[in-house]
Order: sequence, then C-alpha cells, then structure tokens
Amino acid sequence: MKILVTGGTGYIGSHTVVELIEAGYEVEILDNLYNSQKSVLDTIEELTGVKPKFHEVDLRDAEALAGVFQDSNFDAVIHFAGLKAVGESVEKPLEYYENNVGSTINLLECMQEFGVHKIVFSSSATVYGEQDTPQYVETMTTGVTISSPYGWTKYFIERMLMDVAKSDPDFEVTILRYFNPVGAHPSGLLGENPNGKPNNLMPFVMKVATGEIPELSIFGNDYPTPDGTCLRDYIHVVDLAKGHLAALNHLQKGTQVYNLGSGKATSVLEIVKAFSEVSGRLLPHKIVARRAGDLPEFFADPSKAERDLDWKTELGIADAMRDTINYLQKSRGMEI
Ligand code: NAD
Ligand code: WQD
Repeated sequence: MKILVTGGTGYIGSHTVVELIEAGYEVEILDNLYNSQKSVLDTIEELTGVKPKFHEVDLRDAEALAGVFQDSNFDAVIHFAGLKAVGESVEKPLEYYENNVGSTINLLECMQEFGVHKIVFSSSATVYGEQDTPQYVETMTTGVTISSPYGWTKYFIERMLMDVAKSDPDFEVTILRYFNPVGAHPSGLLGENPNGKPNNLMPFVMKVATGEIPELSIFGNDYPTPDGTCLRDYIHVVDLAKGHLAALNHLQKGTQVYNLGSGKATSVLEIVKAFSEVSGRLLPHKIVARRAGDLPEFFADPSKAERDLDWKTELGIADAMRDTINYLQKSRGMEI
C-alpha cells in the first residue's frame, strides 16, 4: 500500500513515517520544509533502511501538487501539513486559513481528480473548545467555543472532509483529534525540532534544558487544579504515530472521528518534576501570569479509539521525558 504523507518531515509526520515503513507501507513525503528540515529524510533512512521519495512542494501550489499525484499511484493520504502556532494564528488569521484550509481544498481536489479516496487527517482537541466537563468525547458539539483561528481551520477542515465524504460515497475519511503530543523516538535520532520560536510546553522545556533560555515560565499557578497549574493529556509521539497505522487499517466509507489521547491529565508542575527526575537536575522555572485562552483542564476520553481501532497509549510521561532527554543528548548535543 502506497501512502502520501503531507507534512512528513515534521514532528508527528516523521515519527509516523518510521512506523509506516516498519509496518511495510511504501511512503512518499510531501513537505515545503517551512517548519522542518530535509535531514529528517536521512534520519528516517538510518532508522528504517529506507529513504522515502521526497517532494519539496507547497500544498498551496495546485499545479505542483497535481504533478505529485500524476507520477504516483497513491492508495491513501495522511495529511499532517499545516501551520500550528495558536498565538501566531491570532495575529495572522488569513495566513492560517490560506495555508491550512486552502491547502486542504487543493489536496482534496487532487485526490478526487486522481481517484484517491482514503484520507487520515490531523485534527486537534482544540475543536472542542470549552465544554462543561474537562473530559472530551467525540460526541460533544464542536466549533462553538473555539478560541483561535488555528482552531477554526481544524474545525472547517473537519467539516469539509465530512461534506466531501457525504457528496462522494467512495471517500473513506478518518479524523484524528490529537491531545498534547510530547516525547521523541526512543533511538534519540528523531524528535521535535521546529524552525524559529517554539509554541508548546515541551519545546520550551527543551530550550531550558539546553541552556538556550534560562528558565521555564509557567503560565499561572492559581487555576482550580490540585497544584494550581493547568492539566493536559500528554501523549507520547510514538503512541500517536501508531494511532495513524490503526486508523489506516480501519478506514471505511464515510467519516470516522477519534480522539487520540491517554485519558490522563498531568499538570505543568508534574511535567517539570518528571523532566527534572529523569535528567537528574532541577529544571529552572518561575511562575508568571496566566496565558490568555488557556483552559484549566482538558483530557481525552480515548475509549472509542480503543474499542474501534484496537489502539491505546502504551507509554507514559516518564517515557516521554526519557526519550526527550535522550534525543537532546544524541541529536542536539546536550550534555547532562
Ligand atoms: P510540524 O510543524 O512539525 O509539521 C507540519 C509540517 O507541515 C512541517 O514540516 C511543515 O513544513 C509542513 N507544512 C506546513 N505548511 C505546508 C504547506 N503549505 N505545504 C507543504 N508542507 C507544509 O507540526 P506537527 O506537530 O508535526 O503537527 C502535524 C499536524 O498535527 C498539524 O496539522 C498540526 O496542526 C496537528 N496537530 C499538532 C499538535 C501538536 O501539538 N504538535 C496537536 C494537535 C494537532
Ligand atoms: C500546555 C500547558 C500552558 C508553555 C496547544 C493547542 C492545541 C494543540 C496542542 C495543536 C498549558 C503551559 C506552555 C510555556 C507553560 N495543538 N505552558 N509555559 O495550549 O494545551 O494546546 O497545543 O492542535 O490545539 O492549543 O499546549 O503545549 O502550549 O501548553 O506553562 O512556556 O503548558 O499554559 O497549560 P495547549 P501547550
């Protein structure tokens, strides 16, 4: 089975490509390298013995995209490519709508034109927005309290995919709503390495560990949670990658939606403690003001994925911290 992975040199995409190749899939990667590096292809080869064919193409370039589909006979697409910085999306909403929604329109048009009908899409827990309870389940209404243009792009893409699957009975769509991906490949060769300023908690933790920034700013410790810091559902990127294989194996006509999370909530201070324990030294941190838009707590109800996809997380926070530190040491030159 031949899979086109858009965004395949990125953080989650690259880990998924490794799992796909190891499971015997043929993979081609499309990425414009906006937030990733070409050297990831060499790392994938080092890990799997296979260097996937690479298309340095921007999904917004419909002509170039058609060229990619023209030359290959894809059975399915896993669509990771997109911009993901929540704060930036508030400042530059049109860039986010153009890049995320516009790109996906091009991709779906090409899929229709070339008769490719299977797609797995990277959505996000952000589509749930604020709910009455912190444990999000797929049956909840989405799109009411989304707090950023980034979140809306995920919501609109979900809607588009559902509408396309309704209009064309050949389509098999699976939407995966990720919670908070963390960790790195256990080899220490692959991990999160964004270009420019990071946005999420772990890339900041990593920058503190490597000394690039002096201390982690924890956004608020006056939330109604046990230690006052926010609670999130952190999912190891390898578990998440395996969730994509499970989704591919269970594609069926119409649209399916699954949460990919652990079902457990961990606080920011617990992350700092876990990282400090594994590295053997306290991660410098300070409490600063709350960040606008942060919810005190949310985590997945992952039971639908467990039931239908036969998938659940196998790795925990300590594994994610160990693999992150291993990655920092082996691939980013950090000494501990
Ligand atoms: P990433 O930035 O590491 O990977 C995304 C890749 O897409 C990058 O390599 C980037 O260069 C590429 N890309 C962006 N725009 C493109 C375009 N127009 N054409 C071609 N390539 C393009 O991000 P990630 O963390 O691996 O996230 C992958 C997907 O998962 C994204 O869609 C993201 O929104 C979604 N997601 C991520 C998280 C998270 O916290 N990391 C959580 C939920 C959902
Ligand atoms: C986690 C916790 C912060 C940085 C976002 C998106 C979501 C999904 C995952 C894409 C929060 C705290 C963070 C720092 C901190 N992405 N924090 N200091 O906000 O839960 O979710 O990424 O779809 O859609 O909204 O993740 O990693 O930014 O924050 O204290 O320097 O860490 O306040 O409590 P978030 P995050």
